[in-house]
Amino acid sequence: MSTPSPAPASPPANAARSVISTRKPLLRRLAAWQRRTPLNPYWLDSVHLLESVRFLAPHARGVMFDVGVGERPYAAEFEGRVTRYFGLEYPPVVFGNLNPDLWDYIEVIHGIIDVFGDGHELPLADSSVDTVMSLEVLEHVPDPERCVSEMARVLRPGGRALITVPFTAPLHQLPYDFRRFTPAGLEALLERHGLRAEVIQPRGNVASATGSVLSQYFLRHWAAAQRKHDGSVRMSRWRGLLTLPFIAFTQVFFRVAERFTSDDALCLGFTVVAVKDAPDASTPAGH
Ligand SMILES: C[S@@+](CC[C@H](N)C(=O)[O-])C[C@H]1O[C@@H](n2cnc3c(N)ncnc32)[C@H](O)[C@@H]1O
Repeated sequence: MSTPSPAPASPPANAARSVISTRKPLLRRLAAWQRRTPLNPYWLDSVHLLESVRFLAPHARGVMFDVGVGERPYAAEFEGRVTRYFGLEYPPVVFGNLNPDLWDYIEVIHGIIDVFGDGHELPLADSSVDTVMSLEVLEHVPDPERCVSEMARVLRPGGRALITVPFTAPLHQLPYDFRRFTPAGLEALLERHGLRAEVIQPRGNVASATGSVLSQYFLRHWAAAQRKHDGSVRMSRWRGLLTLPFIAFTQVFFRVAERFTSDDALCLGFTVVAVKDAPDASTPAGH
């Protein structure tokens, strides 16, 4: 019988570029600050996503299940609204993006991910949750029909599905990026599985989408040193520093420009509230 080796005391130095930050506290604080400002090339998208989540939050109640919870970034928005918030993650994506040197430190995921599984086969009983949420996940599942059918199955009648999907977003989390959706496509997809869309609204408009695409251009064409296996890029230190002000200016400019257009034929994504209607009591069983 082999003796399990004790976990090392601290993460190895070569794990520094992993999804779990091993940077020095000051650099970590600086990076966290930068992420919240227009110097983050994804700032425009993240501002809109947060607005979408704030729109969705009042629709959440009871036991809420988050399919593809990621790093549980919006947990605070649901505090006091749900009695329990638990989240599922899909191991091939999480572990595929995790530096193998950090596998011994996987316990840091505790408190973020409650259950590992697959959106195609949710490990829950029928009608067992009051709210099912899925933020920026449906584009990543090979079979969204099956995933939505599973979300509808675990939802109790009268419960709500809260969903966001991207529309203009660069390919990401490769090789698990399969499609983009339109409002009509989303409505039909939900309806096929007994979910009635109450709201399908665009996230941002043509100005937000233009700002986001332009900052991706600056990031990927000017600032990038290397394209990574998952589609994201590693920034060159010096070109990155020179480019970030352009990225910041572009995003702020188009954030303001959003107010002067209402054309949303091009937008960042869609935000959806759908309800699982209770079976019609007047319909005799079997009909
Ligand atoms: C763009 S991230 C969004 C994460 C999180 N919902 C958020 O808003 O920050 C997409 C997530 O979908 C998850 N995912 C991909 N394939 C999945 C599957 N088959 N079942 C469940 N989740 C999946 C990924 O692991 C990833 O965390």
